[in-house]
Amino acid sequence: MNVLITGVSRGIGLALTQQALEKGHNVLGIARKAAASEQLMHIQKNSRNLLQLVPVDLADEGACAEISSVISEWACLDILINNAGIYASGNTKKDFLESFEINTIMPYLLTKSLLPKLQASKKPKLIHISSIMGSITENSSGGSEAYRSSKTALNMLNKCLSLEYKWLTSIVMHPGWVQTRMGGEGALISPEASAKGIWEVIAKIGTKESGAFFDYQGKSLSW
Ligand SMILES: NC(=O)c1ccc[n+]([C@@H]2O[C@H](COP(=O)([O-])OP(=O)(O)OC[C@H]3O[C@@H](n4cnc5c(N)ncnc54)[C@H](OP(=O)(O)O)[C@@H]3O)[C@@H](O)[C@H]2O)c1
Repeated sequence: MNVLITGVSRGIGLALTQQALEKGHNVLGIARKAAASEQLMHIQKNSRNLLQLVPVDLADEGACAEISSVISEWACLDILINNAGIYASGNTKKDFLESFEINTIMPYLLTKSLLPKLQASKKPKLIHISSIMGSITENSSGGSEAYRSSKTALNMLNKCLSLEYKWLTSIVMHPGWVQTRMGGEGALISPEASAKGIWEVIAKIGTKESGAFFDYQGKSLSW
């Protein structure tokens, strides 16, 4: 299958990429500083040419056009995983704008620009890596307003996409609390365990599940 994953330089995106290659998928990985990631370079070296890296910063104006132009060589896109994300610890105007740009607006715009390629797939799947921190029901502590609200808005955009494009299976996922630069060392699970669960959920879902919010173990989450 043809898979596009954003934010593959480290963390969950790197583990998702490694496991996609193990499954024999063709992977287009978006990494703004691909060469700076030793692990990613190692994975690419052993990928039997299944991994193509595109050095795009999603904050750049031409990001969607550049990715669309690279993917024009593919007949279709079967799975799009919008994984790249940032965690702003503060709540300044800048924090809000950057969080919404990378966590909300770019996943939406990238999806829109890739819709023709997704529609060309027999069973297209769109996965937004969101967060339980975007759940209003589950918010018991407050704080991290810029991050939380950017993920809440992402959840809403996913719902809109699922209603507008009935042929597409479009879900949001919480990857667990994961040991990455964002999740910190004290987090509960490894990126590999998170990615394994995410791939298991991806394998199971179809249009019936479109619009849903799952965690990496396939548990349904409240909004
Ligand atoms: N870790 C957790 O516990 C946890 C929990 C809930 C949700 N999530 C979500 O899971 C996703 C992955 O998080 P992670 O834990 O793997 O975080 P991470 O280790 O901080 O990795 C974030 C990834 O996003 C990329 N990225 C950020 N801004 C970008 C930009 N402007 N252009 C291109 N790539 C960009 C980073 O690339 P660079 O290396 O170039 O910076 C990196 O590859 C995020 O959406 C996050 O919100 C994580």
